Amino acid sequence: MDPGRAAIAARAAELHRGTFGADPAAVAVSPGRINIIGEHTDYAGGLCLPAAIDRYLAVAVSQGEHIEVASERHDDVVRADPESLSRTGGWADYALGVVAELGTEGLAVPARMAIASDIPAGSGLSSSAALGVAATMAVLDLADLVAEPLDAGRLARAAENNFVGVPSGLMDQAAVVLGRRDHALLFDAAAEIGELVALPGEIAWLVIQSGIERELRGSGYADRAAEAAEALRQARQTNSELKSLCDLEPHEVEALALPEPLGRRARHIAGECMRVRMAVACLEAGNIEALGQLVLTSHRSLARDYEVSLPALDEIVEVAVDAGCPGARVMGAGFGGSVLAVAGATEAEAVAAKIEAGLNVPDVARRRGGGAVHRLAVVDGAGLVQP
Ligand code: GLA
Repeated sequence: MDPGRAAIAARAAELHRGTFGADPAAVAVSPGRINIIGEHTDYAGGLCLPAAIDRYLAVAVSQGEHIEVASERHDDVVRADPESLSRTGGWADYALGVVAELGTEGLAVPARMAIASDIPAGSGLSSSAALGVAATMAVLDLADLVAEPLDAGRLARAAENNFVGVPSGLMDQAAVVLGRRDHALLFDAAAEIGELVALPGEIAWLVIQSGIERELRGSGYADRAAEAAEALRQARQTNSELKSLCDLEPHEVEALALPEPLGRRARHIAGECMRVRMAVACLEAGNIEALGQLVLTSHRSLARDYEVSLPALDEIVEVAVDAGCPGARVMGAGFGGSVLAVAGATEAEAVAAKIEAGLNVPDVARRRGGGAVHRLAVVDGAGLVQP
């Protein structure tokens, strides 16, 4: 097992002992994820290309009398009754949501959970999906239930949709349950089917934190999801058979002449799905320059058409390109978080140092990790670990 995974599991188990005075009955570890390309497409039934990364979160659980949730990052222990759970608006909701979701299926589990994490929060690396998935796997094991990995991912997404109240797609959960070492996951969100795509060793993946923390609950994420749904509804007035905006060619989107901003949103979704297919071909051919161009085009589309970038993120993309990256783009939901940059593996360290030197990050963002450049390895997905 990779040492990062074992270390985080040990930390969660330790926190569990320290908080609840007992050994955990189960520990689950989930990686975070990057998304190479295919952004804001999953909830529109499109394609995306994420990969699990070597930053981990662990949840250690045991049976209690109530629900109790502790985290390394917070001093308070959140307590709740499994029979009458309600959203707190705080950090524990992704864990509570899993128990609430199981409750809707008739299973009340009074779980005590301890969370340890190396995934920076609000940075676009899916710390929330990692928490949802690790909590799901751990609590299911506590209840002596076995689920297929993607079913655990679906349950975690349902918790995010129904309990936390964020209308997210399935990309993040799929990436962290189905991810495989040195492979990206070509995920078709409509069919909910993933296919592994080998990643050439010549490419390094750099993630640059903006230090602008984004919470999906408070961002324009729900607005974008609603606009995408409305654009599809209007497109169906012309083409009643249309399943997803991803099934359209860009010129077909233009021909629909949707009112703005729906036209721009639809153009992004259709174009982005095409870019995912082309990116897979670039990876198969080992063509890093062409992949970089697609990633840059994705950024421009996310900035201009989908309007989820910020000036600070655009600037990081520019600095990364100036430092020698073939491509870079805002990653995840946007409105903050991180930039993903594609770099050549042999020059990655030098490029990362150049990016760090070239960034002009305000102190307030720097205190939240802004300006940090991480070189990430692509790893296996989530699972249970011996406590
Ligand atoms: C967040 C959501 C995902 C996806 C991305 C944008 O990470 O959780 O479902 O929509 O934003 O691509």
